[in-house]
Amino acid sequence: MQYQAILIGLDVFSAFAQPLYITCYPLPDMSTCKSPNTVVYRGNIDRCARERQNGHRSKAFWFTGLSGSGKSTLAHKVEEELYAQGIRTYVFDGDNVRHGLCGDLSFSPEGRSENLRRIGEMVKLFLDAGTLCLTAFISPLKEDREKVRRIVGADDFFEIYVKCSLDVCEKRDVKGLYKLARAGKIKNYTGISAPYDEPEHPDLVVETHRCDLATCVDQITAYIHNHL
Ligand SMILES: Nc1ncnc2c1ncn2[C@@H]1O[C@H](COP(=O)(O)OP(=O)(O)O)[C@@H](O)[C@H]1O
Ligand SMILES: [Mg+2]
Repeated sequence: MQYQAILIGLDVFSAFAQPLYITCYPLPDMSTCKSPNTVVYRGNIDRCARERQNGHRSKAFWFTGLSGSGKSTLAHKVEEELYAQGIRTYVFDGDNVRHGLCGDLSFSPEGRSENLRRIGEMVKLFLDAGTLCLTAFISPLKEDREKVRRIVGADDFFEIYVKCSLDVCEKRDVKGLYKLARAGKIKNYTGISAPYDEPEHPDLVVETHRCDLATCVDQITAYIHNHL
C-alpha cells in the first residue's frame, strides 16, 4: 500500500488556530483497477479543509462481533452521544446496506468479502468527506477485516470487538435467525454454520454479556474521543 502524505501547517490567521495536521491518503491500488486511463482529481477543498470546518478529525470505528452481540445498538447509541456533541457521524449498518448498495450480494464467503470491500471503499469516501464513521458488520473473517483496514488506511481504522458469547447471542436472538439457522433453514449463519474469527489484537473490546449498554457506550465514546 502506498501513501501520499499531506502536511497542513498551523493556521495562525483564522479565528480558531488549528493544530498541525499530517494526513496520509492511501493511494488507489492500480493493479486491480479495470479503468487504468483515469487520473485522480484532487480539488482544493480536501479532507483537511473539511475536518477543520467540522472541528474534528474523521476516523473509522469498525464494530465486529456475532449477530446479536450489540453492534447496531451500540453504534447508533454512540452516534447519538457524538451527534449531541456536534460531531459529524454516519453509521454503516450491515442490514441497511444489504437493502441497497450491496443488495445483489449473498452471504457466501465471496459475497461477504465483496460486501466489506464496498463498505471499505464507502468509508474511505466518507473519511474524505470529513465524517466520523461507525460501522456495524459481523465481518467474521480476519482476512476480510484486514483487507478493509488496508482499503481505509491503518491510521484511520480502529477495530472494536463487540464481544458476546454465542450462548447469550442465541438467547437474545433479536431477529429470530439463530432459531432458523439451528433448524437448518438459513445457510452460512455465523457461529452456527459459518466461522467467526475472533479478533486477535482489537483496538478496543466491549463485553456486552458482562456490561450493560450504558457502560459499553461510555467505553466506546471515551475511546473515540481519545483517538480523534
Ligand atoms: N451491553 C449491551 N450492549 C449492546 N446491546 C445489548 C447489551 N446488553 C443487551 N443488549 C441487547 O442485545 C441486542 C443486540 O442486538 P443488535 O444490536 O441488533 O446486535 P447486532 O447488530 O450485533 O446483530 C439488543 O436487543 C440489545 O438491547
Ligand atoms: Mg446489526
